Amino acid sequence: MALNTFLVALTFLSSARIFSLVEAADPDPLQDFCIPSNTLIEGSPCKPYSQVTSKDFYSSLLRTNTDTTNTLNPLFNFSQAIVTTFPALNTMGLSMARIYLGPKGVARTHTHPRASELVYVEKGVVEAGFVDTNNKLFAHKMRASDLFVIPRGVLHYVVNVGREQAIVLAVLNSQNPSFQIPSFALFGPKLPYEVLEASFSLNRTTIDALHEIYKNVIA
Ligand SMILES: *[C@@H]1O[C@H](CO)[C@@H](O)[C@H](O)[C@H]1NC(C)=O
Ligand SMILES: *[C@@H]1O[C@H](CO)[C@@H](O)[C@H](O)[C@H]1NC(C)=O
Repeated sequence: MALNTFLVALTFLSSARIFSLVEAADPDPLQDFCIPSNTLIEGSPCKPYSQVTSKDFYSSLLRTNTDTTNTLNPLFNFSQAIVTTFPALNTMGLSMARIYLGPKGVARTHTHPRASELVYVEKGVVEAGFVDTNNKLFAHKMRASDLFVIPRGVLHYVVNVGREQAIVLAVLNSQNPSFQIPSFALFGPKLPYEVLEASFSLNRTTIDALHEIYKNVIA
């Protein structure tokens, strides 16, 4: 390859790489803030500047853990400040969750496709861990005030390994990090038996039992 062609190819590849990095995260804001004028419509225009007040930037929603409906996982509940529950986060590339774990409670394995996460222990003793794309496990026991980083997109969990209840804060670099729980994703909808058998080395009886457990997890 001629040097010129090589340089052009290199430039193209590196700009494609930079482009893909930018694409994979929340975009940069175009103004100081953009409080959505209609919180029910995603991508709704910003409220007029004159109508924005200090109250728009304030939320008390993490004072309590609001999700108490989780019958599959009763030792776990959480509340989250994401763009839909706290609209001032719009365009900020930030969100936060407060997670309650009873003794032995688990924030079951899940991923956030769009966000890295910083885990902070408010109270109790937990283990946080993730599995990277080499299938290597990185995990650490944490006490109050400790931090643990979860890279973007990897499978991770938090488990209460103490005797008391634990409270964990999670800060994520996306206004809407979203999450996917593999057991829900793979056994909630009915994927072909062949696919599940091959993926997990399970027989149909076991797959049917898992479908029964997870049948109500999708809307
Ligand atoms: C939810 O979290 C609170 C702690 O804020 C805890 O006291 C309560 O028992 C939890 N509820 C359920 C159903 O897990
Ligand atoms: C299916 O797998 C389970 C768990 O390994 C086993 O106990 C059961 O006997 C198997 N059933 C059939 C029909 O092979």
